[in-house]
This record gives sequence, C-alpha cells and structure tokens, in this order.
Amino acid sequence: MSLPEYPVGLESRVGNMIPLIENQSSNVCMVGIWGMGGLGKTTTAKAIYNQIHRKFVYRSFIENIRETYETDNRGRWDIRLQEQLLSDLLKTKEKIHNIASGTTAIKKMLSAKKVLIVLDDVTKEEQVKALYRSRKWFGSGSVIIATSRDKHILKSLQVDHIYTVTEMDQKESLELFCWHAFRKESPREDFNELSRNAKRRMDKCVIKTKGNSRPTSARETKNKLRWSKGWQGKGYIS
Ligand SMILES: Nc1ncnc2c1ncn2[C@@H]1O[C@H](COP(=O)(O)OP(=O)(O)O)[C@@H](O)[C@H]1O
Ligand SMILES: [Mg+2]
Repeated sequence: MSLPEYPVGLESRVGNMIPLIENQSSNVCMVGIWGMGGLGKTTTAKAIYNQIHRKFVYRSFIENIRETYETDNRGRWDIRLQEQLLSDLLKTKEKIHNIASGTTAIKKMLSAKKVLIVLDDVTKEEQVKALYRSRKWFGSGSVIIATSRDKHILKSLQVDHIYTVTEMDQKESLELFCWHAFRKESPREDFNELSRNAKRRMDKCVIKTKGNSRPTSARETKNKLRWSKGWQGKGYIS
C-alpha cells in the first residue's frame, strides 16, 4: 500500500504496534487504531499491513468504509463491502446478490483460515456486521485491524488493544515541514526562524500539509508564506 513520500514518526508508531500483534496470546488478534481525522490512522494501518501481509495468504484492506457507506445511493454499501472482502480474499472478482448469501459465503470462506483484514474508517457497527458476525469465524493466527474516529465503535468490536494516534510533536511537525519545503530533515540555516514560524502556524492544520509543489528558491518559499491566506500583518514574516 502506498505511504507518504516523507513519513515522519511512522516507523516508531508501527514499531510500537507490531509487538502487540505478534505477541498476542489469543487465537485471533484484533487491534483498533483510534484518533481524529487526518492524524494518520489509515497511513499507520497501511504501514502495518505492508510490514506483515506476506505472512498471510488471505488478506484484505478495505479502505474508507465510511465513504462507501455514505456515498452509496443505491443502498448497496453492505453488498459492496462483502464483495470487496471476498474478492480480496479469493483473489477473484466476486458478485454477491443479497446480504444473506454474502454472509454465508464469507463465513464459509473464512472458516478456520488465517486472515489479515483491515477495516479502515469504520463509523457504524452495522458496517462490520455486514462482513462478519463473530470473531469465531476467523482461524487461529488471524489479525483484524480496524481504524475509527470513534472509540466506542472500536470497543463495541471488542478489540484486544486500542492504539491512539496522537498529533505530531513539535520536532516531528518541524521535520515534516522541512521535508516538504527543503527536501531535507531540518531547515537550511537561512530558513531556521522562518521554518519555526511556519511550523507554529501549521500546528493547527494537523498534518494535511502536503506541499505539492517544491519551492525552487528561498525567495519563492518566503513569498509563498508571505502571501498565503492569513499570514499578512500577523508578524510571522519580516
Ligand atoms: N507519519 C506521517 N508522516 C507524514 N505524513 C503522514 C503521516 N501520517 C499521515 N500522513 C499524511 O497525512 C494525511 C492524513 O493521513 P491519514 O492516514 O489519511 O489520516 P486519517 O486516516 O487519520 O484521517 C495523508 O496525506 C497522509 O499521507
Ligand atoms: Mg483514514
């Protein structure tokens, strides 16, 4: 799964979570990743998936369940989720005609198989119920990871651990800014103070600062910051 071009702090997050998964004593390991929108839940789930997926023959990453649920105007979101799960696990295109037959097919398919399933951005219990009804459906050694903004949902899924994704700290957000602005980990000498000001300003913007275009010169960067909305007259830039 694709990860950000400049991941910051991701390795340590994943490093904290993998042992939780690998040292799980029960048959099936269920982990919840919880945090505000934009903090990196999906990214963390992808990084974990990338690291462990080879150990599983049967695997599925169902991304953006909330969107499937909210944008489906034919009331078939549950069938779409079932089809995706079955297609991923069986590596073929599966067509499902109704929920009941989908549920039966999934139960049969899962029975006693070791699977890796990621359920990304779960907002309702019914979304998960469309996919499985009991953790007994999964074979020994299975790993189920769910991400959500809602801790109650994760608790209702009876996950074994909830991992909280927190905002980046000062050092990490400065590093992320510098990767995007200068393509390096720390600011250039002449940009030191400006970068810190920019970072302070961006702290409120969480980490959705993708900075698509690369500034080519010091002046360009400074101008970009000077004219970006809300910067003028605030004393951030001399
Ligand atoms: N550790 C990280 N380092 C750099 N960028 C990140 C990191 N985690 C997430 N991002 C970026 O931040 C944005 C939001 O991340 P995402 O995982 O979609 O958040 P969430 O799922 O919590 O809403 C994405 O553009 C992603 O590429
Ligand atoms: Mg997400």
